[in-house]
Amino acid sequence: MKKVMSSSILILATAALSAQTIQGTSHDFSQYTPSGEICVVCHTPHNANTDVPNSPLWNHQVTSQTFTPYSTTSLDAEVGQPSGVSKLCLSCHDGATAVDNYGGTTTGTWLITGREAIGTDLRNDHPVSFVYDQALAAADGELKDPTSAVTALGGTIQTDLLSEGSTVECTSCHDVHNGYSYNPEFLKITMNGSALCLTCHDK
Ligand code: HEC
Ligand code: HEC
Ligand code: HEC
Ligand code: HEC
Repeated sequence: MKKVMSSSILILATAALSAQTIQGTSHDFSQYTPSGEICVVCHTPHNANTDVPNSPLWNHQVTSQTFTPYSTTSLDAEVGQPSGVSKLCLSCHDGATAVDNYGGTTTGTWLITGREAIGTDLRNDHPVSFVYDQALAAADGELKDPTSAVTALGGTIQTDLLSEGSTVECTSCHDVHNGYSYNPEFLKITMNGSALCLTCHDK
């Protein structure tokens, strides 16, 4: 009996090390919602907002800002307005859409400021919302093949880091629910030795 107990405690401890949670992070809004809910600021089981295709039961106001995309002469990718899941992130991190505008409310006043406000000028941020495929890797010459290069998470770049297996988004580097161990930035892969960057860039 004792042996069984100690081995199950060991399994629990190991699981706790790898699986982090949203609780207690800056995405845990339970102390700000009337009912102490965490998820409601971003999700609802019914009457969700479907303005952004493929949104996960979205309950937050969607940003209406026009963004200035990242652009350099060396960039090979076609980068336009943020779309998909990046648009959901920017629905708070644009610094212009109130965090407390959810569930149909549009009178919120909590705007993100400082470093956490990515803003509407994305020229100083890693590009997002563009297709990263074998053709882009070949055109660039210093990008790994997303269909075959492996990541620290166990799959390929395409399966682990690309949204819908196709595009680079905020979620290529961050997990909004803090599922990995690299607090406090919700990173999916550690920045130690720039491991995150070297997952895709062949430098
Ligand atoms: C700050 C906003 C935010 C909060 C709070 C939040 N989520 Fe999410 N959630 C998202 C975003 C953005 C996505 C899309 C992520 C992606 O495509 O990688 C998502 C995706 C999901 C998905 C579908 C994809 C997946 O990861 O399984 C589920 C299920 C989900 N969330 C459940 C929850 C639950 C349950 C809670 C509360 C405990 C919660 N979320 C809290 C923003 C949030
Ligand atoms: C409902 C609003 C909301 C949405 C949607 C949202 N965030 Fe946040 N996020 C916040 C707030 C509020 C903070 C804390 C800001 C502060 O400290 O001023 C934060 C903090 C962060 C931080 C910093 C972590 C830390 O601990 O300081 C990162 C990284 C982040 N968010 C990434 C994302 C990404 C990526 C998405 C989309 C997948 C996203 N967020 C969607 C509200 C949001
Ligand atoms: C290529 C990887 C990558 C992408 C894509 C990315 N981030 Fe980050 N982000 C990081 C890293 C790494 C940090 C940690 C801070 C640092 O090293 O500058 C960070 C930090 C942050 C922070 C904390 C503030 C700060 O500057 O430290 C926020 C908020 C954030 N990211 C939101 C976003 C949002 C929103 C998107 C999409 C528009 C996004 N990130 C796209 C890698 C990325
Ligand atoms: C999910 C894969 C992925 C990750 C992770 C990633 N990048 Fe990128 N990055 C790309 C792709 C794809 C491009 C587009 C390259 C192009 O089209 O020229 C890009 C573009 C860039 C550019 C702009 C190049 C230019 O010509 O203007 C820089 C700089 C850069 N990344 C640095 C970083 C750094 C630093 C990190 C780590 C914090 C990082 N990247 C993480 C995939 C990634």
